[in-house]
Amino acid sequence: MTPVVARAPGRVNLIGDHTDYTGGLVLPMAIDRETTVTGEDRDEAVVRLTSAAFPGEAVVPLDIDDPASVSPGWARYVAGIVAVLGPRRGFIGEVRSDVPVGAGLSSSAALEVAVALALGAEGSPVALARLCQRAEQQACGVPCGIMDQLTSTAGVEGHALLIDCHALSVTPVPLPDGAEVVVVHSGEERALVTSAYGERVAECAEAEAEIGPLRLAGPADAETIGDPLVRARARHVVTENARVRELAAALGSGELREAGRIMVASHRSLGEDFAVSTPGLDALVARLCSRPGVHGARLTGAGFGGCVVALCEPGALEGQGWVVRAAGAASVRRG
Ligand code: GLA
Repeated sequence: MTPVVARAPGRVNLIGDHTDYTGGLVLPMAIDRETTVTGEDRDEAVVRLTSAAFPGEAVVPLDIDDPASVSPGWARYVAGIVAVLGPRRGFIGEVRSDVPVGAGLSSSAALEVAVALALGAEGSPVALARLCQRAEQQACGVPCGIMDQLTSTAGVEGHALLIDCHALSVTPVPLPDGAEVVVVHSGEERALVTSAYGERVAECAEAEAEIGPLRLAGPADAETIGDPLVRARARHVVTENARVRELAAALGSGELREAGRIMVASHRSLGEDFAVSTPGLDALVARLCSRPGVHGARLTGAGFGGCVVALCEPGALEGQGWVVRAAGAASVRRG
């Protein structure tokens, strides 16, 4: 029996939301909050995990074929990994995590990646992220993109990651000195995420049926779409892809005020054109942006509640949320 310690970070997205599932651009970073799976292989046909972070126990037979039917809820992600990875041996262990759940910081991706590594998944960061993305889709029936899992498997300390979700290329972008990334919870539990996320994916597919891949489209193409709602969704995606490049460039040249302006424009687009913000998130972004030393803020992740990410001078938002640092990639140690 070989002892295993696998760890995987959560993530915060600086910009590029609802762009990954049309092969667009995103700029997230892995954060210094992580999920750890410790344990050992077992010669039995089941994976058993307990956790202080989540209620109940995950008991998943190796031949599981419907991960979505498993309970408690967090065990579905474990079951998704078992179903997709198909490990030959069982495992017994424990999960720890300081990634807040339901905040938009990808606690589920961190769990998937840590479990996959603990159960022996191998391969490149992209291969591992793809496996975990499939597991998430099976576990909760949400047609999610690859951003969360790939950020966890490819994180680089001190850097955000410019990810092209079509080419699956990852370019680390150094975070400038003198900038702090702070995550502030809106106090609103994320609501409607599952159903409305699927609706947005479908609306983007409708836009693509009309004008072709959104990742290749420009603002003028989006404006030719007949249905006003689908046109607005496409407008968000097309302009957001452009903002991802702009923010990466602004961070690269240390233009923090410009970076903040781009983040605020992204928030507005997510609210007005993509309809994934809430009055609470809007009020929080406005409140944070009115404070001295704050360059900009926006909702992060899927929206509908959850967290806002702010870019600010060090200490400007002390006591308001969590300062997060860009962390390295998921890893596993055996023996
Ligand atoms: C969730 C999904 C990601 C991505 C974001 C929105 O976090 O898991 O794939 O689509 O929402 O950007």
